[in-house]
Amino acid sequence: VRGADEKTEEKYAHIISTLPKKKSWGQELQRYQGFWYYPFFLDGVMSVQHNFKVRPSDVLIASSPKSGTTWLKALVFALHNRNADDQTSKQVMQSSNPHEYILQIELAHLYTNNSILSLDALPSPRLLATHIPYSSLPESARDDESGCRIVYISRDIKDVFVSSWYFFNDNRHDSQEPFSLEEAFESYCDGVTPYGPIWDHQLEYWKASIERPQSVMFLRYEEMMEDPVNGVKMLAEFLGRPFSMEEAEVGVVEEIVKVCSFEYLKNLEANKEGELQFAKVKFTKPAFFRRGVVGDSKRCLTPEMIERLNLLNDRMTCSFSSSS
Ligand code: A3P
Repeated sequence: VRGADEKTEEKYAHIISTLPKKKSWGQELQRYQGFWYYPFFLDGVMSVQHNFKVRPSDVLIASSPKSGTTWLKALVFALHNRNADDQTSKQVMQSSNPHEYILQIELAHLYTNNSILSLDALPSPRLLATHIPYSSLPESARDDESGCRIVYISRDIKDVFVSSWYFFNDNRHDSQEPFSLEEAFESYCDGVTPYGPIWDHQLEYWKASIERPQSVMFLRYEEMMEDPVNGVKMLAEFLGRPFSMEEAEVGVVEEIVKVCSFEYLKNLEANKEGELQFAKVKFTKPAFFRRGVVGDSKRCLTPEMIERLNLLNDRMTCSFSSSS
């Protein structure tokens, strides 16, 4: 994706310098095409918009941060590689964090110490991920003819808030000031969080899933948690790789659910220590596996906070139903 010539980099830097800024969660975010971003991720977003073309065999995992991305990456990888004869993909899953085997397209150039990593060089079929909102995806990804499949995972916005607060507070970078839960909450309700507002993010993908059901699948974290076996079967069908009778009989579905479960992934040596670094931000691997439960926000938020987020959620749910 990178490798843009100097002129292009200057152009991106100029656009970024003109974007609205707001302080949020101890750092400055900038608004681009209606959503808030870390400024140092924006050139990657623009580069993807201008240079990235999907292929018919691509699978794009999309989400707002802290909505279950890590889990979905593991599931898609396991589903996709389940018939591989060799043990390589199993070893990859055992020895790496899911963010290491499925790249986030807008950050691809940042993964390996800023070296240029071209998404074009990856062999097909590519399993990729993004937090970019639907309306800002590269045109080819929104085109029905492209054949690319997009799987989106959404999550209750209250639980996303609590998950995000712990995650971003615990993984603050050097120039980032500490921020209280209350401060973070106000910004979240204003929609000013990385890739926020989350309700617009979810709504856009939900609408796309209604308009383009063959190409966009909308999953809910809570439903996947309640019945992961059914969720994995639906996912396999959507990806064009349904389970055969034989596979179902020998328990392949249950095995995938097990090796991608919270407890299993959390307890892998590969996830017990180490960090993932993207530009200025560094996240510890264990931070991706905090509690993994539905409704954790009840423990951490006041009744008033819950009510405010419920109101925002209801507004979104109204939009969900009125656009169906
Ligand atoms: P909590 O902070 O509520 O525990 P993301 O992967 O998008 O960053 O989302 C992280 C959230 O998903 C965290 O939520 C994390 O614990 C949870 N999670 C990670 N792996 C999971 C898994 N295999 N199953 C269910 N939840 C998982």
